[in-house]
Amino acid sequence: MRRNTLILAAGKSTRMKSRKSKVLHEILGKSSLAYVVELAHEIESDEIFVIVSPQEENIQLLFGEELNYVTQQHQLGTGDAVASAAPFLEDGTTLVLYGDVPCLRAESLQELFDFHESQGNDLSILSVDTEDPTGYGRIVRDALGVVAIVEHRDATPEQLSIREINSGILLMDTKLLKTYISELTPSNVQGELYLTDLVEIFRSAGYKVDAYRMEDEEEIVGINTRCQLAQATRVLQERINNYWMENGVTLISPESIFIEDGVEIEQDVVIWPGTYLKGDTHISADCEIGPEVTLESTFVGTGTRVLRSSITQAEIGDNTQVGPYTYIRPNSFIGDNCRIGDFVEIKNSVIGSGTKVSHLTYVGDADLGEDINIGCGVVFVNYDGKVKQRSIVEDGAFIGCNTNIIAPLRVEKGAYVAAGTTLTEDVPKDSLAIGRSKVTIKSDWKAKKEE
Ligand code: UD1
Ligand code: CA
Repeated sequence: MRRNTLILAAGKSTRMKSRKSKVLHEILGKSSLAYVVELAHEIESDEIFVIVSPQEENIQLLFGEELNYVTQQHQLGTGDAVASAAPFLEDGTTLVLYGDVPCLRAESLQELFDFHESQGNDLSILSVDTEDPTGYGRIVRDALGVVAIVEHRDATPEQLSIREINSGILLMDTKLLKTYISELTPSNVQGELYLTDLVEIFRSAGYKVDAYRMEDEEEIVGINTRCQLAQATRVLQERINNYWMENGVTLISPESIFIEDGVEIEQDVVIWPGTYLKGDTHISADCEIGPEVTLESTFVGTGTRVLRSSITQAEIGDNTQVGPYTYIRPNSFIGDNCRIGDFVEIKNSVIGSGTKVSHLTYVGDADLGEDINIGCGVVFVNYDGKVKQRSIVEDGAFIGCNTNIIAPLRVEKGAYVAAGTTLTEDVPKDSLAIGRSKVTIKSDWKAKKEE
């Protein structure tokens, strides 16, 4: 049986009070619509249609050509959105997903598919019982199944007390969908074509409509407002965090820790509060990360400790210490057993194993070898106003405090640079470079000045 999946993403997003569509708002680094597209792939749809508004046709650029896009010319409601795709649907079953319902799991959809088939339904609804049904469509049942879905705004006081709500997810026979979708009318408070009115239409034509009550009401939160966006973030955050805790990662105060979907974490990692792990960050075993660390697409080796720091697109070796207050920028490679300390910024540089850059230093566009000591307040002067140039410091060198290294140059193996030097030429192996003006002492200067 051919499976079509429709993803509705053309709504006006009025309640979000935003210049962009609510389906493009992000939850843990990924748009709501991206979660729903992934779900559609996961359940093995034969064809996926995304319904977009004329203002949001850029969605096509974001999601590529493997999906079909249908433009809904006027936002006349969820029924109109489905009607705009109907001519393109081949017979089989059609599943309707909402682009603003990002937390739904494939397992729940599978339960809906099984229910639909085992009950021999023509239309199945995914529903849930909830404490607070405000804003959602209510499921009105009779002895034969479901008779109607009544929107919150259209409901009678009696219907408002119903706790079973429509998730928005519907599964139906495609032929029937195509036959009856044109019968929807805008006879409701919002003057829209409600997809949910198909329930009554199907029932009065004698077809079988029923709702599958799923367990977990958190899965169906719709992100119409910023508060619901925060609610969805909590749901997905907790789901991801629980996964890592079940897989041997300690999260201290998980509600303050945010881990995006593409992150990998090995066993016996401890993550402290206020930490945000993004992109395809990988954290190897026995690391301690946080508090207050942001890692974006960064690889961290075994046993490394990162404290109150921000690292983007970098690689950190084993048993290295980073922070507090270190800023490591893209294309930086830090070796094993390094010590990168407070107020150090590193950009587009290599730091060899065993090297220490302990405080108040900028390393930009430099290649540092192993077992080097970089003193306090060193600046790799990489930019002359026109071009960025690289410097090299070889193994075992010692760079004294408050040194400026004016690129491009090379400090060879085992060389020393005296504190306070502004270095403008290469330093040969094992030598000392000292570039300071001589200190002059003027005795009794204070007394003479006051004469
Ligand atoms: C809808 C359901 C409601 C259900 C709730 C669950 C209807 C009439 N109501 O209400 O029963 O409890 O979802 O979250 O379906 N969209 C379009 N084109 C349009 C209008 C909407 O593509 O013309 C898209 C929106 O982008 C959104 C989805 O359809 O992704 C749902 O629309 P929305 O306006 O959010 O419906 P709700 O009022 O939440
Ligand atoms: Ca909604």
